[in-house]
Amino acid sequence: MKNFTHFIPTRIQFGEGQISHLSELAQSGSKVLMVYGGGSIKKMGIYDKAMEILKEAGLTVYELSGVQPNPRIESVREGVKLCKEHGIDMVLAIGGGSTIDCSKAIAAGALYDGDAWDLVLTPSKITAALPIYSVLTLAATGSEMDKFAVISDMSKNEKWGMASDHLLPKMSIMDPTYTFSVSKRQTAAGTADIMSHTLENYFSPNEGFLQARFCEAILKTLITCGPIAIAEPDNYEARANLMWASSHAINGFVSDGYRVAWCVHPMEHELSAFYDITHGEGLAILTPHWMKHVLSNDTVEKFVEYGVNVWNLNPSEDKWVVAEKAIECTRNFFVKSLGIPATLREVGITDEENFQIMAEKAAKGCVGCYVPLSVEDIVEIYRAAL
Ligand code: NZQ
Ligand code: ZN
Repeated sequence: MKNFTHFIPTRIQFGEGQISHLSELAQSGSKVLMVYGGGSIKKMGIYDKAMEILKEAGLTVYELSGVQPNPRIESVREGVKLCKEHGIDMVLAIGGGSTIDCSKAIAAGALYDGDAWDLVLTPSKITAALPIYSVLTLAATGSEMDKFAVISDMSKNEKWGMASDHLLPKMSIMDPTYTFSVSKRQTAAGTADIMSHTLENYFSPNEGFLQARFCEAILKTLITCGPIAIAEPDNYEARANLMWASSHAINGFVSDGYRVAWCVHPMEHELSAFYDITHGEGLAILTPHWMKHVLSNDTVEKFVEYGVNVWNLNPSEDKWVVAEKAIECTRNFFVKSLGIPATLREVGITDEENFQIMAEKAAKGCVGCYVPLSVEDIVEIYRAAL
C-alpha cells in the first residue's frame, strides 16, 4: 500500500429530517446562492422547506435554477456572475450530481478572475472556492462527498471532469426519503453509476486486498438494493444503502493507497458529450463490452475473483467459464434487473460517425488503466456496444 492522504472534510448529516442542519449555513456568511435543476425539488417540497430554514437563519437567498443533466458551462457562468454581482458567501446545491457539480464549478469560478471553463480544463488553477453545501436527492455520482465536478460545453462536444480539494463540500445532507421520488429509470442509472465507480477501482492494476473487499461489499449492496428501490421506491433501507454506497464508491475509501486509473468513464463521457445521454446508462451499456474486450490470460483470475466473490459463482468450475459467466451476470443485472437498455442504438446512437473522434479523446483519459486501451480498442468497444 502506498502512502496516502485521506482528506474528506465534508460533514455528512445522514437520515430523515436532517435538512434542519441548513440553519448552520449562517456560519459561512449571510448570502447564499441556491442552485437546483428542473424543478423536482419544488414538487417534493424540499424547496419550500429549505427556503423556510434559510430565511429563519437570517440568510438572504439568491437562486440559480434549470441546471441540466450533464451540466453546462453556461449555467456555471450564470452562477459565477450572480456570485460576483451580489457578493455571495456560499453555494448550496439541492439535487443530483449535475446540480452539485455545477455548484462546485460556480463556487470555484466565483473566486477566479478568468472564465470558469479555464478551471475545467486546468483544475490546478483552482486555488480557492466559496464554501459548498449540498442536499442530495439522487444516489449516483458521489459528488456529495468527493472532490470532482464534471462540466460540459456542448457547443464543442466537450465534457471534462475536474478535481480539487477546494471542491469538497463543507456539509452534505443525505436524507434517503428525498430519493423516494427518483424515477425507476434514474434509480437504475444511478445504481449503474455507483457500480461502475466501484468496478473502475476494483479492476485496477494493483488493487489492495482490503480495498477489493470493500468494493465487493459495495457491489453486493447495489445488486441487492438497486432492484428493491426500483420495485419499492419508498423502501427506506434500500434507498439509504444506495445513498451511502454512492459516497463511498468514489470518495477514496476504496482506492486510497493504490494507483487507480479509470477507463469506462472516459469512454462514457464522450458518449454524453456527443449525444447528451444519461451517464449511468452509457456506463451500463459499455461495461460488459469493456469486460469482454479486456478478458485475457493476464486478467482471467481477476474475473474469477469477481465472479466468485460478487456473483457467488462456483470456484471449482473452469476459470474461463467462471469469467464469462461473471460478465454475463453483470450484463443481465444491468439489462434484466435494472431495465437499462443493452445497446447504444436504444439510447439514440445509431451509427459510427463519431466513434473515431470520441475514441481519440477518450484514449487520453485511459492512461495507466487496468488494461491499456488504444484508440482502436475503444472504437471496437463502441462498435460492439452499438
Ligand atoms: O433537474 P431535476 O428536476 O432535479 O431532475 C433530475 C434530473 O432530471 C432528476 N432528479 C434528481 N433528484 C430527483 C430527481 N427526480 C425526482 N426526484 C428526485 N429526488 O434526475 C435527473 C438526473 O439528475 P442528475 O443530477 O443529472 O443525475 P446524476 O446524479 O446521475 O448526475 C449525473 C452527472 O454527474 C456526472 C455525470 O457525468 C453527469 O454529468 N458525474 C459526476 C461525478 C462526480 N462529481 O464525482 C462522477 C460521475 O462519474 C459522473 O461523471
Ligand atoms: Zn460515474
